[in-house]
Amino acid sequence: MQVVTDSSALKESLSELSDKNYRIGLVPTMGGLHAGHGSLVTTARSACDVVVVSIFVNPIQFAPSEDFASYPRDLLGDRQKLASWGADILFVPEESDLYPDGLSGMRVQPPAQLTSGLCGPGRPQHFAGVLTVVLKLLNLIRPHVAYFGQKDFQQWRLIQQMATELLLGVTIVRCPTVREPDGLALSSRNAYLDSRERLAARGLSRSLATILEHYQKGERAAAILLERGHCAWDDWFAKNACLIPQLEYLSLVDTRTLEPVERVSAESVAAVAARVGKARLIDNVLLAPASPDLPLLSWPAAILVE
Ligand code: PAF
Repeated sequence: MQVVTDSSALKESLSELSDKNYRIGLVPTMGGLHAGHGSLVTTARSACDVVVVSIFVNPIQFAPSEDFASYPRDLLGDRQKLASWGADILFVPEESDLYPDGLSGMRVQPPAQLTSGLCGPGRPQHFAGVLTVVLKLLNLIRPHVAYFGQKDFQQWRLIQQMATELLLGVTIVRCPTVREPDGLALSSRNAYLDSRERLAARGLSRSLATILEHYQKGERAAAILLERGHCAWDDWFAKNACLIPQLEYLSLVDTRTLEPVERVSAESVAAVAARVGKARLIDNVLLAPASPDLPLLSWPAAILVE
């Protein structure tokens, strides 16, 4: 695996490849890599000739009160993982490479409709920061395909919309969420959790699994599905002696518009965000006949009492 740390070296490597007409896949990351990133890289590996992975902790997508400084950074460990997953090029730019005129310049402004719900209200500048850095990476690398995880559903939807509206000519692929054996969605931020918080964090996937279960049984009214999800959330903390996370939202929205639905008719997504200790965690499940999240239903709901 080739490691490049500035955009001119990157351009040189990529120009050799474009001469060969290779299909380039990009997996943008902020490092702190886990098996969820592994599945993005191996999916890219199976569909592309060249797999480029970027690692850049993007300052402009963090609010001043958020965890930019403490975000997990382990370049050596990440390099080893990427080599074992089969990445060809690791791009680790300097801040000045992506922001030559500083951090307060040009931004991609996401449409209000797609940011008025879910994580938008709680993180007002976040998605503009994400779209801006992703656009820069797409412009530098010019991949044919870029891969993102379903766990960050709103992020994926916004990037897909940006690619369509700005005529970027790149295919945006959404890959299913990878989970711990007990259902917790993999996230770099899980590294912040101590054992009590780790137990509490299961409340997110338990409430989503309950919504999915009732959807599978035929329930379509959003109010009832959400009530079931809230009950499962409360139950989890009533039965387990762990701290109670601060629930930010539990919502049921249309996968395209991200607007709340009253009945689940077209494909919808049930999404949750909660603060567990110093980690802000998010998760979601797709409510659709062949949902990729169905395995969550067969994973153990065993109650662990500390
Ligand atoms: O999902 C992430 O890790 C980041 O938001 C991304 C897409 C790499 C942009 O910084």
